[in-house]
Amino acid sequence: MSLVSGPGRGGMTDARLPRELRLFVDKHVSYIQSLDTRKDELEYWLTEHLRMNGLYWGLTALHLLGHPDALPRNEMLDFVLSCMHESGGFGAAPGHDAHMLYTVSSVQILATLDAFDDLEERVKGGRQKIGHYIASLQNPATGTFAGDEWGETDTRFLYCALNALSLLGLLGLIDVDKAVEYIQSCQNFDGGYGNRPEAESHSGQIFTCLAALSIAGRLDVVESDRLGAWLSERQLKNGGLNGRPEKKEDVCYSWWVASSLAMIGKLHWIDGDRLASFILNCQDPDGGGIADRPGDMVDVFHTFFGLAGLSLLKYPGMVEIDPVYCMPLAITKRILEKPDVNS
Ligand code: FPP
Ligand code: ZN
Repeated sequence: MSLVSGPGRGGMTDARLPRELRLFVDKHVSYIQSLDTRKDELEYWLTEHLRMNGLYWGLTALHLLGHPDALPRNEMLDFVLSCMHESGGFGAAPGHDAHMLYTVSSVQILATLDAFDDLEERVKGGRQKIGHYIASLQNPATGTFAGDEWGETDTRFLYCALNALSLLGLLGLIDVDKAVEYIQSCQNFDGGYGNRPEAESHSGQIFTCLAALSIAGRLDVVESDRLGAWLSERQLKNGGLNGRPEKKEDVCYSWWVASSLAMIGKLHWIDGDRLASFILNCQDPDGGGIADRPGDMVDVFHTFFGLAGLSLLKYPGMVEIDPVYCMPLAITKRILEKPDVNS
């Protein structure tokens, strides 16, 4: 049976699938809803530094599952705005320092909640403030971005900047051409990209570089065939994907690798059915959630990226994801139709 591709797939209901190919939608919804109520557990506090990212992962996962209203909108909005600094950047939780990684998650959450107007009502000039914070982290000489005022640079931060600024309609605040030049300087002989010039190719960084090039409208500089071959070699015998040669398979690479293949039009270079089966095998059918590999403990990060992978593979009944923004496609389409306010 073809799980995710081929004729006749559309309209297949999940209940007709054998148990090992079934997505436990309700269990995953309950699992994500329960994450915020576990405040008496040590793990909740140990992961405080990831709270904003966790909200983006959980909220987006619920959208992909077709349950966009399963978390309270006002509480999410209050939380996000309580993490905003005067500088325009956001921290992971109230009182935490601002950083690019939490700022992009905040913008993605606000975009998903259709809350840019709420932002303006509650923080006058809020969009511009965020835009200027992000733009201040670009190095004008190299085009790349730091994650925060302390200066560590990485192609992840460059992507986060382009993601958030384009959602805000403020790409005009930065030097996009220079950023593209920087990405090109990170390209390797295998067609892949590392986190800085001369760093080894890594599927996570390849995702960030391709997505940034896509936002910049410059996917033409990618060596698609060579990169597509390298990415498709990431699929292992059990259907799962690894991030680099000689590494173990991991559910989160279902996203980093498959979305990269999708961006260069080569998702069909891997076996989607075998990948979907691998992801489904990593589910906890009782408590909900998805682990990095079968039998391991679930967490919200792998739950989200597993679901994102299944959505990309067009698993029946799932909401479609945008491979560039890692958000529901209908939402990015709605937002990006708006013109750039600085152009
Ligand atoms: C693997 O990390 C993944 C990456 C390096 C890419 C991370 C990308 C971002 C944080 C950008 C924001 C993303 C979205 C979707 C908005 P790892 O540390 O797990 O790598 P390892 O497997 O080599 O340990
Ligand atoms: Zn992982």
